[in-house]
Amino acid sequence: MSAIKAWFPTLIYTQRLLDKGGRAFNAELLDESHKIRAFDEPGQAWSAAHYPLGYTSYGSMDRLHQFSSTFDQLRAHIDRHVAVYAKALDWDLRGGKLLMTDCWLNIMPRGCAHSFHIHPQAVVSGTYYLQMPKGGAGLKFEDPRLSRMMAAPMRRARAAAEQRPHIVYNAKAGELILFESWLRHEVPANPVDEARVSVSFNYHWV
Ligand code: NI
Repeated sequence: MSAIKAWFPTLIYTQRLLDKGGRAFNAELLDESHKIRAFDEPGQAWSAAHYPLGYTSYGSMDRLHQFSSTFDQLRAHIDRHVAVYAKALDWDLRGGKLLMTDCWLNIMPRGCAHSFHIHPQAVVSGTYYLQMPKGGAGLKFEDPRLSRMMAAPMRRARAAAEQRPHIVYNAKAGELILFESWLRHEVPANPVDEARVSVSFNYHWV
């Protein structure tokens, strides 16, 4: 046995949403997303105040799975991935279940960013990618122990990926990422012209 072992892992899940038919389903969702943005005038106003350069339905239509049957299909597909993730976490749900509570759309053109945050009250959060331009901003996670490292030395620039204080996931369209809702993350400013389009969601334990 090795003298040193790693403990207390932080699990991040990434997978294609669907093995088959993912491209057509993604196109349908993307088309509907553009319609939602055009229709959602309160959301456009909310975004102008709180989401510079971009559009999000977070402040206006944050339960898209209850609004649209296409987004409810997306919810059903994501449920299956969340079940796999919860199993990997060894969660004992004590007869309860993991329920999607919030589901919202994000359209991020060049320069649009979303700074570090967590998703309070949820247990699993994640993002499904509808459109990810080449060179578009990824999803950046922070080592959750960082706030406790008062005098710890910096890690070497060439440290192994799992030893670094941040990890960036560059998902492609049709893929999703799941993480525990307490894990701090951000989307750096999108550096390319083409918009990055994604659906974010929360699951509660009920
Ligand atoms: Ni988030």
